Amino acid sequence: MHPDLESIMLSQETIGARVQELAARLDADYAGKTPLMVCILKGSVFFYTDLLRAMKEPVELDFMSISSYGASANTSGEVRLLKDLGCKIEGRDVVIVEDIVDSGYTLSYLKRLLHSRGPASVRICALLDKVSRRVVPLDVDYKGFDCADEFVVGYGLDYAERYRTLPYIGILKRSVYEK
Ligand code: PRP
Repeated sequence: MHPDLESIMLSQETIGARVQELAARLDADYAGKTPLMVCILKGSVFFYTDLLRAMKEPVELDFMSISSYGASANTSGEVRLLKDLGCKIEGRDVVIVEDIVDSGYTLSYLKRLLHSRGPASVRICALLDKVSRRVVPLDVDYKGFDCADEFVVGYGLDYAERYRTLPYIGILKRSVYEK
């Protein structure tokens, strides 16, 4: 275990097994539809690549980058689009793939934005859901795990851009972010 962690919350094996289950559900729900799977950079990148490789049905890939500066910390919920999709989504089935939903600001903004472009459907697939932190109502259609209100890092999740490449998800020691 990384020395900056207090404990491991989700092991590599636990994450892997859940990713397989989510992929199987997506395969069943989107059979014959070739959904557009949208990766929200950067935190969801490992979840996204593992999930898509576990799926058997054909999918298309695209990427978006969002700056949620202040979004979780204040009440404005201001979200800024840094990189947009490279394709049109009119009439398409879209699945937004996220690492974590916290206040819900980022995903509710994204859902609104994508819905305004006339897709057939927009659903959310998130590995972690911090329900207790929700400020705006938002349902996660495909959820990996409920997540306690802890500072979690690894498997894409960072603190100051560190720990993203850990293969598991752990709880960061308070001493690391309170010094
Ligand atoms: C995280 C996560 C979501 C957002 C969720 O991204 O990937 O996009 O925060 O928080 P919310 O529900 O309060 O809006 P972050 O801003 O940490 O960027 P990153 O993915 O590049 O690490």
